[in-house]
Formats: sequence, C-alpha cells, structure tokens
Amino acid sequence: AQLDTLAKRAGKVYFGSAVDNPELGDLPYKTLLSNASEFGQLTAGNSLKWETVQPVRGTYKFAGGDEILALAKQNRQLFRGHTCVWHSQLAAWVEAGKFSAKDLTAIIEDHCGRLVGHYKGEMYSWDVVNEAFEDDGSYRKSVFYNTLGTQYFETALRAARKADPNTKLYLNDYNVEGINSKSDAYYTLIKSLIAKKVPIDGFGVQGHLIVGQVPTNIRENFQRFADLGIDVAITELDIRMVLPVTPEKLEQQKRDYAAVIRACKAVKRCVGVTVWDYTDKYSWIPSVFKGEGAALPWDENLKKKPAYDGIASAW
Ligand code: XIL
Repeated sequence: AQLDTLAKRAGKVYFGSAVDNPELGDLPYKTLLSNASEFGQLTAGNSLKWETVQPVRGTYKFAGGDEILALAKQNRQLFRGHTCVWHSQLAAWVEAGKFSAKDLTAIIEDHCGRLVGHYKGEMYSWDVVNEAFEDDGSYRKSVFYNTLGTQYFETALRAARKADPNTKLYLNDYNVEGINSKSDAYYTLIKSLIAKKVPIDGFGVQGHLIVGQVPTNIRENFQRFADLGIDVAITELDIRMVLPVTPEKLEQQKRDYAAVIRACKAVKRCVGVTVWDYTDKYSWIPSVFKGEGAALPWDENLKKKPAYDGIASAW
C-alpha cells in the first residue's frame, strides 16, 4: 500500500506533501502528487505567505493558493494553510510602515481574517503563527513581537477562528521536534493560551532534520502537547544529508524517516505527516543549506529512495 493509505490504516488523518505552483507545470511530478493514495494532503509551499497574498496594503492575491486548492479538491486531498503571521517572506510594507500597536493589530486582523476567510470551509488546518521563538526559547524579535509583545498570538488566532470556525488553528516552528528550550517555550505559551480560552487546536512541528541527528524524544514531546488537549502534526518533514549521496547515508536516512513516523504513529493525537515536497528535484534544502540535500523520499528522477520504504514500513 502507499503512504497515505498506510497512514490512515495507522489511525492518522493524512500523509501529505508541500507543493509550489511552478512545479505543477511538470507533468510527471503533478501526476504522482495527484495520487491520493500516496498524498492525502497538500500544503502550498509559498503561495499563501504574506508577501504573496498581500504584497501591497489592501491588495489581496489568491491565485496561487486557489490553484493548489483546486488540485487538492480534484484529487480529494486535504489542504493545510501556511501561513498567516510570519517574520519571513513578509510583505515589505508591514515592516517599513512603523505601525502603532493599534494599527498593526488591525492589519493582522485584516490579513488573517481575509486569508483564512477566503478558504473558509476548505482548509483542514492553518499555521496561524509561524516561527515565533528563537532556539533558546526567547520570543523572536519580529515586527509583530516588537510592536505588540505576546498579544499578537491572541489577535491572530481569534481573527482566524472568526474567519473559519471549523478549521484547526496551529502554531508551527522548527527545532521543536524533541524536548528542548524552544519546545518548552511553546508548551508554556500554549498552556497559557488555553487557560485564557484563546482558540488553539494544534502544534505543528516542521521537521527539518539532519540524517543521523534525529532527536530521540520526539514521541515524549508530542505526548506532552497531546496531553494539553491539542493535536500535533509534522508539517514540513525533510531529512537532509551532506552531499554526495552514498548508500550508507541513504540507509541512515531510511532509519531516520522511520523513527519520525514511529513517533507520530505512537501518539494518538499526532494527526499526520507532511513532507516539504516529495522529490529532491524540488527540495528547498540545496538553496539554503550549502552542500546539503537529498532530503526527501523520492530522488530527482521521481524514483523512490530507501527513505520511502522507511516511511512505509514504519506506518
Ligand atoms: C521555504 C520554501 O520551501 C522555499 O521555496 C522558500 O524560498 C523559502 O521558504 N519553514 C517554513 C517554510 O515554514 O515556509 C519554508 O519554506 C521552509 C522553512
């Protein structure tokens, strides 16, 4: 059986992939992506980010997101929204504007409201706030935090809930797979949001990992968030290696993928796993991590790697 089928047999909601719009011109790529037995869920890799959705104040562009939604619907795949509030790939006008707290609050309410509202009833879940902490567990000094302090989480989450009462609202970050200062910070924040009755449904763990360096306490970390009464998901999984590829590294990668899948499988409220694209052909890794790559379960020729079997056997 294929990966989404296996995930569902394990009690999960989906196994999915990110996709970026230009890739849809690649027919063999699109055909495999459209196989809902492999991928039961899609995430737009770039097209729902602020700089794309609202590049100019008050001008909204949903064409890229709409294209991926249409494909997901045609294929009967779930769609995850990524992302409302993030310091990166943010429209320049938001930072340049030097807005007051009152104005920036209204801007977040408008942006999250319009964005989530545009996809009302269509999104399984939303990464409402992305990458809000530093690795040491301190708040990231983004324009949002610098202007609003921690209040912006509540502002964004409430605006998203109002715009679509039925989608699941997540906070999402990297380097929070295991138990560490950063995941501790999320644990504390989410607990306080729940205590204040701020809508929060899930914790997204991106999962940008390194071959041979997968944290050993992912399951325990997931379980403590699940015990708060929220879902968890692995939202952007890739496991990169220093190039060149060797058979040994591919075998280690296979074990690493299996370990991540087993952690999700073991925690009932881990709802699904998304790879950050499925083929090395379109991975973001080589452009950002010099000398590294080959992070995904299919190679550049859309051939399955050992990692594929690692995922399949772990489900
Ligand atoms: C990446 C995209 O894949 C790239 O195409 C883009 O150039 C940069 O962003 N964390 C996230 C994702 O939340 O949005 C990022 O996606 C990868 C890291």
